[in-house]
Amino acid sequence: MTEQTRASRQELADVFRRFAHQQCAGRSPLYFTLSHAVADSPELLDLAAGTRPGQPAPNMLLGAVHHILRRGAPHPLSPYFSRLEPPSQEQAAELLVDFCRRHAGQIEQIISTRSVQTNEVNRCAVLLPAFAALQNSLDDRPMRIVDVGASAGLNLLWNRYTYRYDDQVLRLPGSDPSTVLTCEVTGGVPPLAVDVSRFVRPVGIEVAPVDLTDREATEWLVSLTWPEQTERQRTLRTALALAAQEPPTVVAGQAPEHLAQVVAETPADQHLCFVFSWSIYQIFGSPGGRERLAITLAELSRRRPIHEISIGHFGHDVPRMIMARYENGESRSAVVAHCDVYGFWIHWLSDARPEEDGTS
Ligand SMILES: C[S@@+](CC[C@H](N)C(=O)[O-])C[C@H]1O[C@@H](n2cnc3c(N)ncnc32)[C@H](O)[C@@H]1O
Repeated sequence: MTEQTRASRQELADVFRRFAHQQCAGRSPLYFTLSHAVADSPELLDLAAGTRPGQPAPNMLLGAVHHILRRGAPHPLSPYFSRLEPPSQEQAAELLVDFCRRHAGQIEQIISTRSVQTNEVNRCAVLLPAFAALQNSLDDRPMRIVDVGASAGLNLLWNRYTYRYDDQVLRLPGSDPSTVLTCEVTGGVPPLAVDVSRFVRPVGIEVAPVDLTDREATEWLVSLTWPEQTERQRTLRTALALAAQEPPTVVAGQAPEHLAQVVAETPADQHLCFVFSWSIYQIFGSPGGRERLAITLAELSRRRPIHEISIGHFGHDVPRMIMARYENGESRSAVVAHCDVYGFWIHWLSDARPEEDGTS
């Protein structure tokens, strides 16, 4: 084994361990255990290395295993995906290695062709206060939201969902009572007063739009959720059903190149706000992705003012939401909230903090 192979395996093992601690601890005992099993297995690390560049290998490998099991492949690993307690670490490693050997071809095919397109509808519960704050800080012109990296476009239907912040239920006009997004307010007072009639129909930009009529494609979205998070799966399914009735507008396009076109085509009598919900790391890479985005938007703002709402880790353990305004090449930005990866909690920062503490 070359030094380079050893180093890249080590690096990938660290990615799986970080994933276990940042994304699985307290949420998915099964994925926590399986991620450690991968980190300790050179064979599984080599398999996971087949993930496309820029894609997170843990989500891809575990998503592929979940996908194959959900399609009915019989294996002793299967019951652990449908019951809550995980196997022991030793057992997990044994079962996962065996499963991956048996299905290596299928796994390779999935991880080398698909990508992490997790469309997390509950993130709308974090975005809504940002929409409200933005709207309340601007004049009455209509707001155009452009969701960049929109996946299936489910978050474009934000005004069709019902929201529950702690005990407060928010029913927007015409919202769907069956898709209820729940968010705990862990700090601050997120603004919730939003006038949906002042938003024009939002648009998504997506390099690989998910065809809502392709069952295999929508099932892959479900496979990307953690097995224990049945509530996440339920919300995803109700949102997919809603989107099948009222398909959101998602344009095939690659950011950042496509952004100039959006800027050029947005009427001057509309405010323009780009939303990047967990897409910056895929579009601009990491670390440093948010900074590269800011440079891009500053340049585009020479043509017209632009607003940005972005959610991601940006180099921090706790995810955050950044709001920024760009005009004539200058920008002003602030961290307005800390939040959950899946939008299950929000801490609204009443004293929005300038984000010079590094946001990459
Ligand atoms: C992790 S998903 C997030 C989806 C959605 N924004 C959400 O929060 O639920 C990231 C999405 O960005 C898309 N993407 C990646 N690179 C892109 C690019 N250069 N231009 C447009 N979309 C991109 C991916 O295909 C994927 O659907």
